[in-house]
Amino acid sequence: MKTIKRSQKPIRVGVIGLSRGRSFASSAKYVGLELVALCDQWKAKLRQTGKQFPRVALYTDYDKFLEHDLDAVILANYFHEHAPFAVKALKRGLHVMSETSACKTMAEGVELARAVERSKKIYLLAENYCYFAYNQEMRRLYRSGEIGEFQMGECEYMHPMLARDVAAISPGGNHWRNFIPPIYYCTHALAPIMYITETRPEYVNAQSVPYSPVDTERHWTKRTDIGFHILCHMNNGAVTIVNGICYRGHGNWYRLHGTRGLMENLRTQGCQGKLRLVHEHWDQRPGDVAEKIYTPDFPAHADRARQAGHGGGDFFTNYFFAEAIRSGRQPFLNVYRALDMTLAGIQGWRSCLAKGAPMEIPDFRRESVRRKYENDHWSPFPEDAGPGQPPSSILGFIKPTRRQFRLSRAVWREIGYKGP
Ligand SMILES: NC(=O)c1ccc[n+]([C@@H]2O[C@H](COP(=O)([O-])OP(=O)(O)OC[C@H]3O[C@@H](n4cnc5c(N)ncnc54)[C@H](O)[C@@H]3O)[C@@H](O)[C@H]2O)c1
Repeated sequence: MKTIKRSQKPIRVGVIGLSRGRSFASSAKYVGLELVALCDQWKAKLRQTGKQFPRVALYTDYDKFLEHDLDAVILANYFHEHAPFAVKALKRGLHVMSETSACKTMAEGVELARAVERSKKIYLLAENYCYFAYNQEMRRLYRSGEIGEFQMGECEYMHPMLARDVAAISPGGNHWRNFIPPIYYCTHALAPIMYITETRPEYVNAQSVPYSPVDTERHWTKRTDIGFHILCHMNNGAVTIVNGICYRGHGNWYRLHGTRGLMENLRTQGCQGKLRLVHEHWDQRPGDVAEKIYTPDFPAHADRARQAGHGGGDFFTNYFFAEAIRSGRQPFLNVYRALDMTLAGIQGWRSCLAKGAPMEIPDFRRESVRRKYENDHWSPFPEDAGPGQPPSSILGFIKPTRRQFRLSRAVWREIGYKGP
């Protein structure tokens, strides 16, 4: 990808989506981003957040927001609407940092890759889990040859929640969280493995596990499954097993085996920041030990990162976005890697519904590959419903009961949501 002209001007940024987006809005200043505009169609939320930032312009309409004097936008809008919002901003000549994931369909992925290339603007996927201190340390170790060539990885992101808490962050019968097959949220698990090893998945086999009937009380209006499992075949011959997401037992875990050793973070609660490095006796070099366990720190900006959300990850995504804009160089989490990890979820869902059949992860760096997918609008989300579209659950199309809707609606009312 071509480099972009270096810019020394202050970076004027706008944030859309004021749930997750509030965290970007408050921390922008720490990396030299100047927050100048906020956007949310939910007026009460916009007013409330606006009070925190009295000198910032407020918008309910995204097109009007884009007309503000901006250099960059941060997209924290709905999970499955990032790509069209990114394309609009890129077309206006704005840099984009997008929440996960990059796109909802293969066709949107094609359009996004083309839009970034045409615009010559920065695109960064805000996949903050790469930047936990132990993942940054594992990247350093891997690059120094500590475990040799990557052969096998395992990674998981587990985030079980009670139905009432899910309902509070999924307002509305058609909210994306009620329809998203959990495999679409695979990037918090897969991205750090790609970041550490700089490999990409080439094809996947996947399985989805439905909620058990005893879990009904835990998921109310969700029409989806409890968990997913992807076998990712990486481009260096390694295999990565990716697991998530709503099984009991919170946590993040990343394990990498190589030709010279093993490294992983610990799984025990309270110890997940610790890193374990293992060498067989025949692999040990002078100074190596069979097993070493330690708590790594951030390689840079530790004070700021320790105060940021998501294990410091929220600081580093902002930081690398600002750095990329200033230097004119696309960041590590560029549009192509964003698509590699996003497509693992979409193609993974195809594999689940085909009983684990292999599905390719097309490399959208190549226009000849993109052409094959430019009309692929396959999507489990409600606005795309129709013939040929897939369900959101491995059990098929689920319709919550009236009781389940009643329970969710009571929570939506409590948080001030007035829609359907
Ligand atoms: N990386 C992380 O750690 C992390 C954590 C939480 C959420 N997220 C991501 O952040 C994104 C947002 O999720 P969320 O939890 O904030 O909940 P959400 O998706 O319900 O919030 C989106 C917000 O965007 C606003 N919005 C949507 N469309 C709009 C439009 N056309 N115009 C104006 N405003 C619009 C909504 O009113 C809402 O306030 C998702 O992609 C989610 O996956 C990431």
